[in-house]
Amino acid sequence: MALVTSKEMFKKAYEGGYAIGAFNVNNMEIIQGIVEAAKAENAPLILQVSAGARKYAKPAYLKKLVEAAIEDTGLDVVLHLDHGEDFEICKQCIDDGFTSVMIDGSKFPFEENIELTKKVVDYAHERGVVVEAELGRLAGVEDNVKVSEKDAIYTDPDQAVEFVERTGVDSLAIAIGTSHGAYKFKGEPKLDFERLEKITNMLPDFPLVLHGASTVIPEFVEACNKYGGNIPGAKGVPEDMLRRAAKLGVCKINIDTDLRLAMTAAIRKFLAENPDVFDPRKYLGKGRTAIEEMVTHKIKNVLGCSNKR
Ligand code: G3H
Ligand code: 13P
Ligand code: ZN
Repeated sequence: MALVTSKEMFKKAYEGGYAIGAFNVNNMEIIQGIVEAAKAENAPLILQVSAGARKYAKPAYLKKLVEAAIEDTGLDVVLHLDHGEDFEICKQCIDDGFTSVMIDGSKFPFEENIELTKKVVDYAHERGVVVEAELGRLAGVEDNVKVSEKDAIYTDPDQAVEFVERTGVDSLAIAIGTSHGAYKFKGEPKLDFERLEKITNMLPDFPLVLHGASTVIPEFVEACNKYGGNIPGAKGVPEDMLRRAAKLGVCKINIDTDLRLAMTAAIRKFLAENPDVFDPRKYLGKGRTAIEEMVTHKIKNVLGCSNKR
């Protein structure tokens, strides 16, 4: 039971054709819901912290909450920085004891992304920390990305090989059609599996990462809307596509939106049905249970990492 790096986890996931869930954490209830599910399923686990999460909960609280979760459950956990935007935040997290950081230089030109990523890799590796980088840009994050520009934002396989060789990075987030948030596809969901297979074949035994991988399950969108929300036409990545990606070298699948929807739906429902309750433990407890159920579903039915600890 400890904070560990993802090295061994990724090796086993790659060989076993399954993926590890990287779940975003922002408070105690979210952390508890996730680790209870991972413990019950005996699953490997990555907890990831965004800059927004650090701002909301303060870095010291999140670190201590994750340590408490490890102590309480006996799990090994990877503590990962999600979307580190510069060297400084990566350095801070490494110095704070994170076992994994993402440097997201995807908005920079190729050479600048390499230079920045290499700087983080050098600092991290000297301290036993692993690094994820990103090449290509996820649709939906950038404004006004036109369909005709598809190839310009999707990850180029030749560049991916050069990027990995020159930076020494431990894993790579690729763009093959996913995007962050609840609106991933205007029409039918479609991922570029041909591109994924090409990248996997050109980078054998190398772990790839899929961001923006929430499924946006209609049941939860509807549950949010039933109790006062207005989230029309949300659409995410179908579960069978995620299972397919996990067999093609994708070892880490990032999930945040589905947790947000599950937690919000449960709290909205509870408060609507119990308007006189004002004890935060009552509604936050419902949110925590909803997170646990969602993570259990992901581990069992999507990631395939039950009993892979
Ligand atoms: O990729 C982004 C994650 O969903 C985290 O979102 O920056 O609002 O914490 P956030
Ligand atoms: P979703 O918004 O699809 O959950 O993606 C989360 C993510 O990629 C975090 O880095
Ligand atoms: Zn992301």
